[in-house]
Amino acid sequence: MTDSKTQPRVLIFDTTLRDGEQSPGATMTHEEKLEIAGLLDEMGVDIIEAGFPIASEGDFTAVSEIAKRAKNSTICGLARANPKDIDRCWEAVRHAKSPRIHTFIGTSPLHRAIPNLDMDQMAERIHDTVTHARNLCDNVQWSPMDATRTEHDYLCRVVEIAIKAGATTINIPDTVGYTAPRESADLIRMLLERVPGADQVIFATHCHNDLGMATANSLAAVEAGARQIECTINGLGERAGNTALEEVVMALRVRNDIMPYQTGIDTTKIMGLSRRVATVSGFAVQFNKAIVGKNAFAHESGIHQDGMLKNRETFEVMRPEDVGLSGTSLPLGKHSGRAALRAKLKDLGVDLADNQLNDVFVRFKALADRKKEVYDDDLIALVSDEQTNDAYEFLQLKKLRVVCGTDGPQEAEMVLTVDGVDHKIDATGDGPVDAAFMCVKMIYPHKARLQLYQVNAVTEGTDAQATVSVRLEEDGRIVTGSSADTDTIVASTRAYINALNRLIIRRQKTAPGEDVKTVSYHGE
Ligand code: KIV
Ligand code: ZN
Repeated sequence: MTDSKTQPRVLIFDTTLRDGEQSPGATMTHEEKLEIAGLLDEMGVDIIEAGFPIASEGDFTAVSEIAKRAKNSTICGLARANPKDIDRCWEAVRHAKSPRIHTFIGTSPLHRAIPNLDMDQMAERIHDTVTHARNLCDNVQWSPMDATRTEHDYLCRVVEIAIKAGATTINIPDTVGYTAPRESADLIRMLLERVPGADQVIFATHCHNDLGMATANSLAAVEAGARQIECTINGLGERAGNTALEEVVMALRVRNDIMPYQTGIDTTKIMGLSRRVATVSGFAVQFNKAIVGKNAFAHESGIHQDGMLKNRETFEVMRPEDVGLSGTSLPLGKHSGRAALRAKLKDLGVDLADNQLNDVFVRFKALADRKKEVYDDDLIALVSDEQTNDAYEFLQLKKLRVVCGTDGPQEAEMVLTVDGVDHKIDATGDGPVDAAFMCVKMIYPHKARLQLYQVNAVTEGTDAQATVSVRLEEDGRIVTGSSADTDTIVASTRAYINALNRLIIRRQKTAPGEDVKTVSYHGE
């Protein structure tokens, strides 16, 4: 193995807040974006793509605030290939200690057809827009969108133009998740060999996971000479998502013998970030997801447990502690005190201010009264719920009683506070959740359509807490709410109300359709 200090450095470019947040329903609030950016910065991410500033007022404000707060990371914003986008992007990122403008245009035949530009016209547009960006900022990234389906000769030509116009990073996106590892490597190698000036810039790889090859494609690109990987926490992103940060970072670390490259990531922060992104995006992590799935380090079968007790390396290629999972998992109970709770949370990578700890302690005691043993996952669900629901809430659930049984219809009685005023109502429904949601709708009428209702048990046992995600859609705005409780109906109703509160905030911030989901990638 080579000495790690002399190994080439691979930059980690995180786009959870831009490409990840673009996933329908993954929208985050302003505060959540700032929080995630802060965690990414602390974790050692080299470049944070904080958003798409022209897309909406909300995106612009989030990118500029993140730029002002970042301590170590470069802060990047996305801009289409036109001066208005690029100017707006610069306005947002210019506050950063280290700002970057990322501008892009679709270069494959299918993408060239949309703005109706021929090859020469597009080449001229690339020259003009990269020059414009470079006149504003000395750190400019350029991407030929759908690069993996662009003719090689044309790709070489436009990459050369972008480098001559001043781009400092050339990103090669596999926009539709179409490439395969060997091809991904060959493409980077081809560009490095054929394009004059290629050795003066950093090549980046940006892969989507439509065929499940994003991680393999990114690593293959690195082996061929790419020195920046674009990725998201939990692989969040449109369709099948982007390359997962935790997968590429841990692969480079665990298989450093055959991939001798370094990243600057503190891997012990991975689990904390993964959980937080899952909560705020409403996209739960699949149980068997590599590195961060609930089962990634669980060894249940007798033969595995036996092997693990004798030598953990029998079935584990990395230690849970390396990704921020605590080695022990002794549950807390109703006699556990504040100090034990604080220590346990610290172990789990959750550092709370005193006032937050007090609130969590009260909720922990209430939970411990209902549940004999409070496990790590229970605490994580509880803290996430507290963080999700501590913002100002227009709608608040004050009281809920449901009557259910085999001989329906089920009934719910509710007191809901709307902007500080209590409203009481009862309703029937097709099941207790339906009845409770009906009460909310009668007190606070709205047109939002329920797109997703998902319930997960946090731990085993009939007294387990349920975490519930609810996704709503109204006039093209999609929001997700979540909540946790040992009572599934209460968790469901709170998640629904949480989603409605987010929708109310979104309505105030954007006119219908005026956000990132509807800004065309090809328009002006
Ligand atoms: O997938 C893609 O092509 C992108 C670009 C905007 C870089 O996300
Ligand atoms: Zn992308």
